[in-house]
Amino acid sequence: MGKDLGRYLFSSSVVALIGGLGSGKTTLIQGMARGLEVSSPVKSPSFVLIREYAGRLPLYHFDLYRVTQDKEILNLGCEEYFYQKRGVVVIEWADRIKRYLPSEYLGISMSIVDASSRKITFRPSGALYQQIVEKMRNHLKREI
Ligand SMILES: Nc1ncnc2c1ncn2[C@@H]1O[C@H](COP(=O)(O)OP(=O)(O)O)[C@@H](O)[C@H]1O
Ligand SMILES: [Mg+2]
Repeated sequence: MGKDLGRYLFSSSVVALIGGLGSGKTTLIQGMARGLEVSSPVKSPSFVLIREYAGRLPLYHFDLYRVTQDKEILNLGCEEYFYQKRGVVVIEWADRIKRYLPSEYLGISMSIVDASSRKITFRPSGALYQQIVEKMRNHLKREI
């Protein structure tokens, strides 16, 4: 699913992931990286808040797990990533940055169902992201 999503993402798109530890955020991003033709392995950034990967479009991977203060969010310079850079921004723990997100983005909520399954809910805001979700829906229908 991540790989399909990565194929559909466009320049300057923003994907905001919300879900607890172990809900599959990094795993989904690893798939997205494949869809974006990123060749180097995508890891959990841990102490690094933002990692960049080269691909069909640059991928900027934010992991805000350790971010607790507004000051730290401002220091990230996220506006530059959202509005000036031409890549794809994907954010883990996006709830921590919610009020700084652009008006249009693809929200994704993830949760653990059991040891081997996850619930993934797409919450697109804006027509371009609705189209992506529609494409994903059609793709899944063909697979079933
Ligand atoms: N869609 C999925 N179905 C089943 N297991 C998954 C899925 N996505 C991730 N996992 C497993 O859940 C664990 C945590 O995944 P991870 O992507 O690191 O979560 P997060 O980044 O949200 O903390 C890993 O062991 C991973 O293999
Ligand atoms: Mg993670």
